Amino acid sequence: MRLFLAAFALVATACTTAGDSPQTRMVAPILTTADARDTHSYARPEVARVTHVDLDLALDFDAQRVEGTAALDILAAPGAQEIVLDSKGLEIAGVTDANGRALPLVVGAEDPAKGAPVTIRMGDARRIIIRYRSGPGAAALQWLTPQQTAGGRHPYLLSQGQPTLNRTWIPTQDSPGIRQTWTARITAPEPLKVVMSGDRLTPDGEPAGAGRRAYRFAMNQPVAPYLIAIAAGDIAFRPLGPRTGVWTEPAMMDRAAAELADTERMVEAAEALYGPYRWGRYDVIVLPPSFPYGGMENPTLTFLTPTFIAGDKSLVGLVAHELAHSWSGNLVTNATWADGWLNEGFTSYFENRIMEAIYGPRRASQEAALSFDDMMSALNEEGMTGSTTRLNLTGADGTPEGGASGIVYDKGAVFLRTLERIVGRERWDAYLRSYFDRHAFQPMTSARFLADLRANLVQGDAALEQRLMLDQWVYQPGLPSNVARPDPAAFAEVDQAVAAFAGGGAAPAAFGRWTTAERLRFLNRLPRELAQPRLAALDSALALNTAGNNEVLFAWLNLALANRYEPAVAPAERFLAAMGRRKFVLPLFQTLWGEGEWGRAIARRVYTQTRPTYHSVTTGSVDRVLGVQ
Ligand code: BES
Ligand code: ZN
Repeated sequence: MRLFLAAFALVATACTTAGDSPQTRMVAPILTTADARDTHSYARPEVARVTHVDLDLALDFDAQRVEGTAALDILAAPGAQEIVLDSKGLEIAGVTDANGRALPLVVGAEDPAKGAPVTIRMGDARRIIIRYRSGPGAAALQWLTPQQTAGGRHPYLLSQGQPTLNRTWIPTQDSPGIRQTWTARITAPEPLKVVMSGDRLTPDGEPAGAGRRAYRFAMNQPVAPYLIAIAAGDIAFRPLGPRTGVWTEPAMMDRAAAELADTERMVEAAEALYGPYRWGRYDVIVLPPSFPYGGMENPTLTFLTPTFIAGDKSLVGLVAHELAHSWSGNLVTNATWADGWLNEGFTSYFENRIMEAIYGPRRASQEAALSFDDMMSALNEEGMTGSTTRLNLTGADGTPEGGASGIVYDKGAVFLRTLERIVGRERWDAYLRSYFDRHAFQPMTSARFLADLRANLVQGDAALEQRLMLDQWVYQPGLPSNVARPDPAAFAEVDQAVAAFAGGGAAPAAFGRWTTAERLRFLNRLPRELAQPRLAALDSALALNTAGNNEVLFAWLNLALANRYEPAVAPAERFLAAMGRRKFVLPLFQTLWGEGEWGRAIARRVYTQTRPTYHSVTTGSVDRVLGVQ
């Protein structure tokens, strides 16, 4: 605690109010305890740290680069002469102070994961201006050809910053515990529109010379730098509610807006649970299908895959999830990726509470039971004593990617559900709401969360402390004995149908009436080994090869390919060519690769075609499976 207070003292104006002028911008505190140290950044924030970034960039679709300047405001310890930034592949032309005087810089050795440190001898300067461009193949950015878009006529740019990719296009301190406010002015060729994850100040842009327009943005509340995001393309906007709306290509608009019709209600439900939505607008952008994730919680503008569109809102848990990050993740942020569960576990729990509020307890309990199953699979895969089954990851497990495992999401959510059950919903909700208020715009660690929970919820009740098993949940592998298990009734009918089919019976006639969660439970619970006639029986009775719901299609294709079911190969090829979402793409390639030469030949043939259409996040993972470099 002492150290933490000292860190506050370094920060002249800890958490002052937001505003446009540099004097009134909010400066967030940093943590300086050992558990908050981010080993995946070169920054030394206790010496000098970036508090604000002004970007002025041109998008060059031909060269596939961004180019321009980043001006950084710096808060430094007395007498500090140097600041260290993160960078990966950036081509830096020069650095000056605010008066244009050149400042010396040294780019250190490049680490394949972390990139290279950029050390700038700033002397007494506390604002520096970096002239630069992104390097070839910058991992955060995906430049799409017109053929990769729904409209087919214009190119498209999208970015993905989390966890450590933004250092490939923004020269700053790329660490989740170093919050920064930012502004941007971005120029793009007409008729493309640009959107970013901050207030969109010029929706229609401004003239910016021959055939180009400029778009300006501001984020006046300090955010973790992985949350700076950009997209540009032939996109349009449609309001969904007073503070919600959707951006997407015109060809996608009707389907996207219909699927997202409940978005405003979701924001209201989230606020009723855990306090005010503090980011102004909540818009979403439905991206082209190569976006590597289901969703990304970029502030004021959630990024979404189009693969969640099923026509019946059955996959909008994704939207509830990204919205929930507006509290867990964006307001209160994991200080390091070793504590990713503080973002993703809290958010998965919160997501389910939003789903319950909007769609009722039945749907919510089914989705929670699916998540519990996913947790059990992950635990069994890693082994109950495996160190990667801890929530707080240590040492080599705490890589930026480790923070995205199923454990972090599902075991994290189950932990909070267990706490809710033990203390009662009313008391738990009051606590969680106060947690977001107490730590808004601050970094968080496992230890800090537990200290907060003990101070504000347990309050010295020794019997309660014992029942909660807090340290075991956070620091030990496996599953504590007080775990809140899902209601076995949630899927009673489906589980019976699984048993019947596994015993040689027919495919369930009720499948067509089932919810998406029920269909997924059925497919995921089937025996993993099935003979060809059994697969054919499923396929013909349930029309799985032509399922319109991508989660259902994925679950089926994965099962079918694992049994070398030939009729699933063509639909799998089409699926893998149609989108680049890693959650779907990677397991299908892993399954094919596990099927000897039968599957490997298919995998190689398909990947040769599809690899150029995937984002680096997806190719990075699939390359490792197929041994491509
Ligand atoms: N923040 C994550 C995506 C992420 C995590 C990117 C870690 C990079 C590193 C996002 O909120 C997310 O969890 N997306 C999920 C959605 C889901 C669990 C409903 C996805 O993309 O599938
Ligand atoms: Zn998430």
